Amino acid sequence: MANKTISLDNQLYDYLLSVSLREPEILFQLREETARHPKANMQIAPEQGQFMALLVQLLGAKKALELGVFTGYSALRIALALPPKGQLIACDVSEEFTQVARRYWQAAGVDHKINLRLAPALETLDQLLANGEANTFDFAFIDADKDNYSYYYEKLLQLIRPGGLIAIDNVLWSGRVAQPDIQDQQTVILREFNQQLQEDDRIFLSLVPIGDGLTLAFKQ
Ligand SMILES: C[S@@+](CC[C@H](N)C(=O)[O-])C[C@H]1O[C@@H](n2cnc3c(N)ncnc32)[C@H](O)[C@@H]1O
Repeated sequence: MANKTISLDNQLYDYLLSVSLREPEILFQLREETARHPKANMQIAPEQGQFMALLVQLLGAKKALELGVFTGYSALRIALALPPKGQLIACDVSEEFTQVARRYWQAAGVDHKINLRLAPALETLDQLLANGEANTFDFAFIDADKDNYSYYYEKLLQLIRPGGLIAIDNVLWSGRVAQPDIQDQQTVILREFNQQLQEDDRIFLSLVPIGDGLTLAFKQ
């Protein structure tokens, strides 16, 4: 027993998946197709998707936002967890990546729940704010360009209702955030972002070491 989070070697990780992963066939197929993509490592881990689906269900979320769709794995997980009339606004800039996503959303029968916005995510968030949608979203997932994380977070804090949740991906950045000698731009941005949230008393905070590190910011 220990009073710190356990490290997972491959054997233990495989065991974790073997006793806990419940992945609908359509998500498995999308993960298989995405694994052949040159940028496959952009997709979230399946156990992280399952965890986020659980959060969506716990929140009773009806209205959700995703920034960074790629081939649509996390969006499909979220959409499947939403109720029949739930809505996910999914933001990306790539027609090419999201063509794959659309194919799987349709095959899964959830395309009517997903509103894909092909534009820089900041523009979409500004439009939603201008549209009077502040304080109306239950759940948001940030997984787009790291340079804009702070801006995304501030706008999402306006869009999310009190008692809603923002989940932010890649906050452990393969461990680089903890290595002071690494000073590239994205690592520095993520390090500063993590520090900013640590000091932010508008939220309840937890950094969960799942996938590449997932911060949960629960709006008070
Ligand atoms: C890490 S991937 C998302 C992975 C996805 N959540 C999944 O689980 O498969 C990041 C995505 O962000 C998109 N992206 C990059 N810059 C963006 C921007 N300014 N606005 C919206 N999307 C952006 C990229 O096209 C890419 O598809």
